[in-house]
Amino acid sequence: MAINYTNVRDFELPQEIEIKGKRVYYGRRFNPNYDVCLVHGDVLDFLREVPNNFATLIVTSPPYNIGKPYENKKEFREYLQWQEEVVKECVRILRNDGSICWEVGNYVENREVFPLDIYFYPIFKKLGLKLRNRIIWHFEHGLHAKTRFSGRYEVILWFTKSDKYVFNLDAVRVPQKYPGKRAYKGPNKGKPSCHPLGKNPSDVWKVVLEDWEKEIWEIPNVKANHPEKTPHPAQFPIELVERLVLALTNEGDWVIDPFMGVGSSVLASLLNNRRSAGVDIVKNYCDIAFQRVLDALEGKLKRRPLGRPIYQPSGREKVAKPPEEWKTLLNWMD
Ligand SMILES: C[S@@+](CC[C@H](N)C(=O)[O-])C[C@H]1O[C@@H](n2cnc3c(N)ncnc32)[C@H](O)[C@@H]1O
Repeated sequence: MAINYTNVRDFELPQEIEIKGKRVYYGRRFNPNYDVCLVHGDVLDFLREVPNNFATLIVTSPPYNIGKPYENKKEFREYLQWQEEVVKECVRILRNDGSICWEVGNYVENREVFPLDIYFYPIFKKLGLKLRNRIIWHFEHGLHAKTRFSGRYEVILWFTKSDKYVFNLDAVRVPQKYPGKRAYKGPNKGKPSCHPLGKNPSDVWKVVLEDWEKEIWEIPNVKANHPEKTPHPAQFPIELVERLVLALTNEGDWVIDPFMGVGSSVLASLLNNRRSAGVDIVKNYCDIAFQRVLDALEGKLKRRPLGRPIYQPSGREKVAKPPEEWKTLLNWMD
């Protein structure tokens, strides 16, 4: 009988399970003796137990202080001070050849927008990190704003600790639009001019829908119809983190998510043979992360596979046509 691990009771922690040679730990303290370590607890308590120079990649999306159910909304300055403490600990546990990816949107107060990446940049810079990319993650769906343009992107700040860092571009290349192109001048005249493995995917991540056509990646943000959807209100698509994991770490490296939610970063790491650890303060999210890890190891995880094109309506679907009720209105407006 399959065991349903969601709602693991507190007294049942820690849980230690081995499936297909991968050892999984779910408990209250950081434990490096496993392939996956999930912790229910506070971010700073967790990070303080991780040794110096430990992780090759720290990837996360912190709370934005916008009053989500999992947040303890603070005064903005206080929020930034707390985040600075977290970032300091992350830098301490990061290997010299490692990277930190901080995925953020906007903090909003009285309808005024504060882009969090602008506030985070000096925090990282002060700690000696170097920005390598400011990646735009663009998505098509979301809330429709009434007093400003609707927000359709968030930002991933990718910093490294030194100038010598892991970057596996070949692992994340995307197809060229015209792979048959040839150089028309110079010493290579007449020879193929594209890289045989594809092109650099750029710093705008839009679609996987045939990159060669659109030139940008699109990773749908996780909404109601998405196969990965869980009750978490701000979940990463696994695919988004997978690109970072593949490009910025090697097999066997440690990936850490200090605000792991339902474990998308942990899953992206596990599915690509990296070791990973994450922490979240909400027990139910940790339980779901644990269940998803077990599902992944048993080959049952529901997910959107890396690179699958985004569904494009043909125009013939009912939802792609204006509603019947609008017909008179539209005729009247003509
Ligand atoms: C933006 S969400 C991250 C979602 C995650 N990327 C995912 O794919 O599920 C931020 C997470 O930070 C967690 N969090 C908030 N305060 C925390 C704290 N003090 N310690 C640990 N986690 C915390 C929240 O419960 C929430 O799940």
